[in-house]
This record gives sequence, structure tokens and C-alpha cells, in this order.
Amino acid sequence: MVYQRVIWLLILFLLAGCTSQESFGTEPDRDGANKKASQDTFQPDSVSTDENSVRFQLVARETELEVRPGKSLSFYTYGGTVPGREIRVKQGQHVEVELKNELDEPVTIHWHGYPVPNEMDGVPGLTQNAVEPGETFTYTFKATIPGTYWYHSHQHSAEQVDRGLYGALIVEEKDETRADREYTFILDEMNSDGNGSSGGMRRMMGRMMGSGDYDMFTVNGKAGSGIPPHEIKTGERVRLRFINAGYITHYLHLGSIAYDVFAVDGQKLSDPVEGEHQLLPIAPGQRVDVLFEAPDGSFFIRDMLDHPAADQMRIPMTNVASKNMHPEVSYQGILWLSESEMGTEWKPVAADSYDQVYTMELGHGMGMGGMAFLINGKAFPDTEPLKVRRGDRVKVTLQSSDPMFDHPMHLHGHFFQVLSKNGEELDGDPVMKDTLLVRPGETYEVAFVADNPGDWLFHCHELTHAADGMVTTLDYEDHDIPEHIDRSQLAE
Ligand code: C2O
Ligand code: CU
Repeated sequence: MVYQRVIWLLILFLLAGCTSQESFGTEPDRDGANKKASQDTFQPDSVSTDENSVRFQLVARETELEVRPGKSLSFYTYGGTVPGREIRVKQGQHVEVELKNELDEPVTIHWHGYPVPNEMDGVPGLTQNAVEPGETFTYTFKATIPGTYWYHSHQHSAEQVDRGLYGALIVEEKDETRADREYTFILDEMNSDGNGSSGGMRRMMGRMMGSGDYDMFTVNGKAGSGIPPHEIKTGERVRLRFINAGYITHYLHLGSIAYDVFAVDGQKLSDPVEGEHQLLPIAPGQRVDVLFEAPDGSFFIRDMLDHPAADQMRIPMTNVASKNMHPEVSYQGILWLSESEMGTEWKPVAADSYDQVYTMELGHGMGMGGMAFLINGKAFPDTEPLKVRRGDRVKVTLQSSDPMFDHPMHLHGHFFQVLSKNGEELDGDPVMKDTLLVRPGETYEVAFVADNPGDWLFHCHELTHAADGMVTTLDYEDHDIPEHIDRSQLAE
């Protein structure tokens, strides 16, 4: 037995080595030799696996990390790195993640976009009690639907996600043909004065200026020259998984390569959408998967947002088989995937009639404590919940009366189908999402089946908007919040 475990650990150690190299890239130093990703990114004893199950351990702790050469910041981390270790599992596997909290404040893990059982959803005061300092909590769920997801704390998430408590959750399709190379890029914004510590002030500034006071844009926790080169070779099929863990929509320019967007919010599109010189927008909370064939040369992926920190979000894609620099052309517009292009192979939810119909009007206004973000004129916890029964077909109209702010709206525990945009019905294959960017003045109708009993959040994923009121709940009438949960802890 012991012997077997040792062998397993050895295998896992090797596997972990490959994965972290894949995810974080290799870092050629001066004389061209490749350094392995730092030891800190994987802890061989913290994962165990067999065919049917995987187990991870994550220790939430404070860690000082270098964001770019000469600039270190203190972070809240899952396991000592930002992002936390990539949780990569196979469809069908049973996933267990043991969270140990070594921070001075409570934390949780929420599985963003993943339809986990309600008691595993990680919302303190709603689905569990927050994991207090010194405590552990084990999250378990079955990996059912493949794709790119992420995890983050939901305890005062505007602040804790900002401080670094997030990571990628990747569910590989059962018999997926893997790309030749694959990278996960988690986008974020940081402040060189430290993250989260000036939360209140920053939040206020953010409101006024559209999150304008971040001065470092990061990729996998690194900014500018701190972002390591990511190897490619001419002709390889490369898959990129972009995850936006920040609060700002980023507009990525992929040099001048042609790329295919083939999954959005983790769901494969029935027809990949081709982008060439257009910018690829990625909204807060969203994921976009892209495939491309590596050109004969190196190039940069960069954020073209009109923001002083945007030039720090610059990912070197280094062709190790070629000395060329792939010529960059200036971009032509933005690849706003029209909803009709985002159809998936999901079974449609759309129906002739619905059991429940709701409208959520999104806006902002002055509340008691300053600016508040509102649903139907109310700020959480005064917002009206969406009440449903198990099996209901539910239609929700998301209507922005906000002249100014984008609201990426996110529903926990369910995928929803986008039925219409600005009064125009979408035809074609169903567009399935868990986070929908609602821009000023836009109106969408979405529908979902109430097939996952519990109490769930429905909120804006500009998490500072959520902290300032743009949150409601989806309550199943036939489900009660368990008595041991301290409802007063509900702290978006
Ligand atoms: Cu990323 Cu409430 O979630
Ligand atoms: Cu918002």
C-alpha cells in the first residue's frame, strides 16, 4: 500500500511538473536555458487521483509574490500562488477539494459557472458557513460538463478576489483530442500600492471612474516584463483559455494571427467564430477559449483597452522554432460575438410558455452609503428574490437602464439560454451562458430550467457593484436554507 502510494506520488509529481509548465510557460533565462516554473506552484502531496476521482488540497494563506521585476506585493492565495493551482479534472470524475484556512479572516471557494450541488457553492450565509481561520472544509462535486471555469472566494468577494483568491477549474472532455499546446491565462487588475487594503477608497474611485485606479494589469498574477514568454512552435495547434478574474472588460489583440473562438463560458460553440485582426473582448467572470495555428514567428497578445495600465497586459508568445517576429497589423474593430454566433449544441431551454417570468432592471443611484447598484430600484439585501419551484422553466428579462456602467450578470448553479437581445429574438442554436455582459441600455431575455434545487445568487460580476447592491437570490420554494447556516454572514 505504502509502496503504491509512493509510486503514485512520483507519477503525480511528474504530471504536476508538466501541467504547471504548460500553464505557466517556461521562462528562458539569459543563456536560453529553460527554468521550470517555481516549485511553489505545485505541491506533490496535495493532489491524489485515480481514474474516477481527484483530490486536491488548497491552503488559503497570505504570501508575498513578485508581480514584475522589483515589485512584490502581499496576496491572499490558495496554496501560495496567484492564481491558485489549476484544478484540472476529467469529465466524469468525482472532485474533492479540501480547503484549509490559514488566513486571519474567513474564506470560501465558489466554483464559478459550475453547476455544483447547492451546499458546495461556497456562498457564506447562504450555502455554507464561511470557513473560519484554522478550519477546513471539503468541497465535493462531480465533474459533469466539460470546459473552462474558475474558482474564487465568495467571502467579501470584491475584496478577496482582488487580493488573489482565485484559480482555474478546467474540466477536460472525456475523449478530447488535445491541442498540441495549451495555456490558461487569467486576467486581472491590481494596484501597486497593495491589493484590497485600500478597498473602500478604491471601490469609490472605481465607481466614479470605471475601476480607473488600478495601475497594473496582470496575467496569471504577473504584470509587464514579469509575464514569462509562452512557447509555441510553427504549425502547432495552440489552445488558449482566457478567464477574466478582474473587474474590467479587456480587449485583446492577438498580434495579427487568425484565431477561432470555439468556446464561451466553457460551452463549445457549434460553429467556431473566426477572428483575425479584431480585438477579443473578455468581460469580468467570462471565459473564452481560442484555438490558433502557431505562425512562423513570435508575437504578443496585448490588451488594447484605453487605460494607462493596459500595456502591462502583454503576453509574449515565443516561437522557439523560428527567429522571426510575426508582423503585427493594427486591429480592425472588436469581435463582438453576436449572440447568433454563439450557438452551442445544448438542448434548447426556450419554450412557448414559462412557469415563472421575472424582470431585473439594472441601474445605479444614490443610496444611504453613497452610490448603490440596483436591481429594480433596490439594493441587496432588499432586492426581491426570484422564486421558483423545481422543474420550472424560468424567463428573466435583464434590462439595463444604466447609462454608464456595464453589468456582467452571473447566475450561480445554472446555465441560461439567451433568448433575445434588444427585442430581437435569436435564432439558431441555443446560446448558453453563466455570465452575460449587459451593456448600457441593453435588454436581454434569458431562460433556464430550475433543475438544481437550493438558494443561489444572481449578481453583477463587477464585484464592487455586487458589494454595493447588485445582487439578488434565486430561491427554490421546496428548499430551505439549512438551519446550521448563519444567515447573518451573507456577505457578497
Ligand atoms: Cu464568480 Cu458569485 O461569482
Ligand atoms: Cu455591474
